[in-house]
Amino acid sequence: MSRTLRLGVNIDHVATIRNARGGRHPDPVRAARMAAAAGADGITAHLREDRRHISDDDIVRLTREIELPLNLEMAATPEMLDIALKHRPHAACIVPESREERTTEGGLDAVRHAAALRPVVGRLVDAGIRVSLFIEADPAQLDMARALGAPVVEIHTGAYCDHEGPARARELDRIRKAAAHAAAIGLECHAGHGLSFDTVGPIAAIPTIVELNIGHFLVGEAIFDGLDSAIRRMRALMDEARPAATP
Ligand code: PXP
Repeated sequence: MSRTLRLGVNIDHVATIRNARGGRHPDPVRAARMAAAAGADGITAHLREDRRHISDDDIVRLTREIELPLNLEMAATPEMLDIALKHRPHAACIVPESREERTTEGGLDAVRHAAALRPVVGRLVDAGIRVSLFIEADPAQLDMARALGAPVVEIHTGAYCDHEGPARARELDRIRKAAAHAAAIGLECHAGHGLSFDTVGPIAAIPTIVELNIGHFLVGEAIFDGLDSAIRRMRALMDEARPAATP
């Protein structure tokens, strides 16, 4: 059976726990292997400017030792561009980054930063790396992603996950419309940020979304139930919401 919805497991916070003590345990590469065995279709890792979780060495090991495609989340800086071009991950997701934030708090403003993004997207695409832009569910941002030559967008699901009730329903509607717009203009559409067992279903059910990237909740849940079990349950919830295509 071929899957219509891929799961990228973000292993950043395995590295966060490792870095709390500065040693080697727990090893994000081991987590990536476990994710592969539990049904992940890809591994996602964010190399931040301050190296607060994933390290340069993790990126080297993930590209060498893991067979699943690596999706490198990166800011559009000269340093990160050099690293991406050196290691040539399968994919690069360009994210906004500020030192003060606890996590990637909003989408990239591709409209405002178009001039700076254009050459970065171009160099990554020319190197054969599948580029995505992490943006809000906003048609103007999607149109700009396409104009910049990015073949993929990842829609930020943080506001949808943070809200409840009617506000969450409004966010879901915005994501649904954006995902339809992405497909209409020829962009591959991904989604992620803040997704959990409770919030994944309605996002997984959107037919034009083909990949979800999920990390923090899975690593948190692993404390109680193990990483393998957390990933398998997430995978099952995704498949339930969007049955795999029959061959
Ligand atoms: N997608 C992108 C582009 C991200 O930056 C992040 C967080 O690093 C995620 C997905 C995963 O978010 P979470 O860890 O909240 O599941």
